Amino acid sequence: MATVTAPADSMTMDAWAAEVRRLAKARDAVILAHNYQRPEIQDVADHTGDSLALSRLAATVDAGTIVFCGVHFMAETAKILAPEKTVLLPEPRAGCSLADTITAEDVRAWRAEHPDAVVVAYVNTSAAVKAETDVCCTSSNAADVVRSIPEDREILFLPDQFLGAHVKRVTGRDNIRVWMGECHVHAGIDGGTLRERAAADPDAELYVHPECGCATSALYLVGAGTVPAERVKVLSTGGMLSAAERTTAGKVLVATETGMLHQLRAANPTTVFEPVNPRAECHYMKMITADRLLTALRDGTTEITVDPATAARARRSVERMVAIGAPSRGGE
Ligand code: 13P
Ligand code: SF4
Repeated sequence: MATVTAPADSMTMDAWAAEVRRLAKARDAVILAHNYQRPEIQDVADHTGDSLALSRLAATVDAGTIVFCGVHFMAETAKILAPEKTVLLPEPRAGCSLADTITAEDVRAWRAEHPDAVVVAYVNTSAAVKAETDVCCTSSNAADVVRSIPEDREILFLPDQFLGAHVKRVTGRDNIRVWMGECHVHAGIDGGTLRERAAADPDAELYVHPECGCATSALYLVGAGTVPAERVKVLSTGGMLSAAERTTAGKVLVATETGMLHQLRAANPTTVFEPVNPRAECHYMKMITADRLLTALRDGTTEITVDPATAARARRSVERMVAIGAPSRGGE
C-alpha cells in the first residue's frame, strides 16, 4: 500500500502541512483531493471526495485557484466547470489508463454507426472525448443518468466495460452498447480473488467499486447464496464512505484502489476494513506527493487549460450530469 511521502528538505510532516496551508491561503487556493490520494494529501486537503462530489465543489467554491490532487481528467473537468478559475495539477503526468482507452475520433466513428443513440460518457475521459458526448456520469450516478434517458433510445456507454455491465444490470435495459475499455487497477481485482477472500471471511461485508473486474462475481456470490445480498454493496468511493459510517459489521472487504482505506478507517474505527487486493494501487494517483503539492503551491504548477471551444461543448455534457440528482458524496 502507498507509503506516506515525507517532504525532501527534512521538514516534519506538521511543518509541511502548516506550509501547505499557508501557501494555499496566500494563493487564494482550495485543495481538492480524490479518495485515492496518499493519506497525507487527503489529510491536508480542504475537501476529499469522489469524482462527482469534487466536480460539484469545483463548480461552486469561492477560491480563485483550485489545486486538484487527483488525475488529469479530474483537473480538466474542474477547469470545464470553472473556466474563470486557475486549476493546478501538481503532477501533469498523472493520467488514467481508462481515459486512455478512447479518443474523440473513436467517439465520432461510433456515433456515426449509431446516429440515433444517446452517448453517455463516464467522467474518466479527456475533455476532447467529453465534447463529443451527450451526457456524463460518474460511478455514483451512472444508473440515474441512464434512467433519465427515454427507454426507447439506444445508448452508447463509454469507456468502462465493467461499469457499463453494472448499469445494464441495475437498469434492466438491453439497448445499451458498451465500449470495452477498462482501468488496469480495477480490472486487476478479479472474481477469483474476491471469491477466495469472501470464503475466508464469510461474515464480512463486501464493498465493490463498479469498475472492478469482480463486480459480476460479487453478484454471482449473492445469486449462489455464498454471501447474503444485504452484505454486498456495489458503490462509488463516496458511496463506500457513507456506507462505512453506517455499518455495524465487524469486517468489510473493500474492492477498489487501496487509497480508499484511509477514509474508511477514519470514518469508522470499530470496523476492520481490508483490501480485497492489497496490490490494487493507482500509480497515477500516487504521483501527487508531499513535495509536488508544495511545489505546485509555491510555483503555481502545473496549470491545466482546456481549449475554450472544446470546453464549451464538454461543459454541456458535464452540466447535464451535475444537474441529475445524486447524494453529495455519491453512492447508490
Ligand atoms: P469515483 O467516482 O468512485 O471516485 O471513482 C473515480 C475513479 O477514478 C475510479 O477509479
Ligand atoms: Fe484511472 Fe483506474 Fe487510476 Fe481511477 S484507478 S484514475 S480509473 S487508472
